[in-house]
Amino acid sequence: MNTVAVYPGSFDPITNGHLDIVERAAKLFDEVVVGVGVNKSKSRLFSAEERIEMLTRACERWPNVRVDGFAGLLTDFCLDNGIHAIVKGLRAVSDFDYELQMAQMNSSLAPIETVFVPTSPEWSFLASSLVKEVATFGGDVSTLVPDFVNERLVERLAERRAAGPS
Ligand code: PNS
Repeated sequence: MNTVAVYPGSFDPITNGHLDIVERAAKLFDEVVVGVGVNKSKSRLFSAEERIEMLTRACERWPNVRVDGFAGLLTDFCLDNGIHAIVKGLRAVSDFDYELQMAQMNSSLAPIETVFVPTSPEWSFLASSLVKEVATFGGDVSTLVPDFVNERLVERLAERRAAGPS
């Protein structure tokens, strides 16, 4: 059987912690789909198209990884794409409660297993929201995201500042 997993998330923006999970998932499964949640009601720093484009660039080194966007239920995306498993990174115990609840909800909706991969200790404090906050106030996040993502982040935040308060 060809095992296919999805690694879902918002990836606004992709961090080195996300890429660590993608790399390790790519060793566990024949194929990994990085699934970018496209939720129109949530405001994001980067559009879905931009997030997909950045992820595609960051993941091009792994031949069995592809990137796709999905709207609606994750389990529907899995059923429509022959995906057997959902990969989630766990940074700390505090992630576990909510992730367990989502895994159980998802398995009640479709016969799809969730596989938890512990985040490498190096990245256990990392979250896209914190990266954005630190970068917004001029902090250096260049060791936390790929170089080209750092450039895009600095550029986007400068555009936002120039546009004035939203
Ligand atoms: O990076 P995030 O914001 O934690 O990602 C959340 C995401 C996209 C994985 C989650 O919100 C999701 O699975 N959304 C799809 C909608 C869905 O299936 N909801 C039911 C979850 S039990």
